[in-house]
Amino acid sequence: MSTNVPAAATSAAAQSEQSLPLRVGVIGLGFAGQAALKGYLALPDVDVIALAGLEADRLAELGKEHAIPHLYERWQDLLERDDLDAVSVATPTHLHAPISIAALESGKHVLCEKPLARSGEEAQAIVDAAVKANRVLKVCFNHRERGDVAVLKRHLDAGQLGRVYYAKAHWMRRNGIPGLGSWFTNREMAGGGPLIDLGVHMLDMALYLLGEPRVISVSASTFSELGPRGLGGSEYSAKLAVGSAYEVEDLATAFLRLEGGGALQLETSWATFRKPGDDFGVALYGTDGGAQISVENYAREDTLRIYTDVAGAPAEVRPRVLPGEGHRAVVREFVNLIRGGDWSAHVGRDGLARAQIIDACYLSALEGREVLVSAGA
Ligand SMILES: NC(=O)c1ccc[n+]([C@@H]2O[C@H](COP(=O)([O-])OP(=O)(O)OC[C@H]3O[C@@H](n4cnc5c(N)ncnc54)[C@H](O)[C@@H]3O)[C@@H](O)[C@H]2O)c1
Repeated sequence: MSTNVPAAATSAAAQSEQSLPLRVGVIGLGFAGQAALKGYLALPDVDVIALAGLEADRLAELGKEHAIPHLYERWQDLLERDDLDAVSVATPTHLHAPISIAALESGKHVLCEKPLARSGEEAQAIVDAAVKANRVLKVCFNHRERGDVAVLKRHLDAGQLGRVYYAKAHWMRRNGIPGLGSWFTNREMAGGGPLIDLGVHMLDMALYLLGEPRVISVSASTFSELGPRGLGGSEYSAKLAVGSAYEVEDLATAFLRLEGGGALQLETSWATFRKPGDDFGVALYGTDGGAQISVENYAREDTLRIYTDVAGAPAEVRPRVLPGEGHRAVVREFVNLIRGGDWSAHVGRDGLARAQIIDACYLSALEGREVLVSAGA
């Protein structure tokens, strides 16, 4: 356990979760599931006692390597255990809702991968289940945990940029479709393409930095130009071979009007003709200063610039930042929230708001018009 001392817990369950090792299960053995697993293994007083995933060899290997006693192919079998306090859900996105809701209904806290769900409606059902069960639901927005984001957030909170009136966020890849023909490119399983996959991270980063302004409306366009021609695939993995046609967008752009008069431009692509690589970042334009996080190929150093005036001359500050801990920080916060006992405030509302905005973007692109974001977002 890390340093946060838990507040007084309100229920017997919370008290037991504070005093005993937390018993956790991880569902999904891909990149995301293994990142969560490592996060739990790094924490004292947390026991990973169950794993689930369809890859029998990987399941056995991970179980052996980390002495995890209970291994399942089917997530339903893992959730039947009544000795688990919490689960991580790191499966293809169409399974987030059924698994998370079943876990919450059986009294388990849930750390769910991003995007929380394929749609705002599904995300709402998961949040409702968390509220009803009085359990923590946390969505894994690991890029928010970067060191450059932490430094910029402190700078913003100190008012150094003044009022930020315009922001841009992007995640653009040259050749980065995560598995052509896999669940990622299947609309039913993924809910969408790079907008819901990568864009949700950048939407989260931008809205978090901006202090969570309400998004009033969106105007978006989506394109599907390379994927359907078999271009733009990444080496990342063949994934689960579902033999899907390319059914989602490969580039999306959206203009978001924010409460208070500000605007956010969001641009995201898995594959497009641009310089090689995999780049993301945000740019903020304020009344007293500006800032830019520019991450090329997952760089963790020298990624933040602050723009200001020094003695009347334009100046650029390059803060030295720590790399940040990504999934490890998210998992630690999740465990701290469970131990903290104040569960009702942590029911995945940020994940829901992101899902509602993304819904509005897809509707806007489909109908070719500006769309109001539903009131809850
Ligand atoms: N936060 C991040 O940085 C990040 C990175 C990658 C993926 N993700 C998200 O994590 C989720 C998983 O992505 P991934 O890249 O790890 O996918 P993946 O395809 O590599 O892994 C998915 C895992 O789910 C398991 N699974 C599928 N159906 C199952 C079932 N019926 N029962 C039990 N297990 C089942 C598979 O066996 C596999 O182990 C997605 O929602 C994705 O958007 C997040």
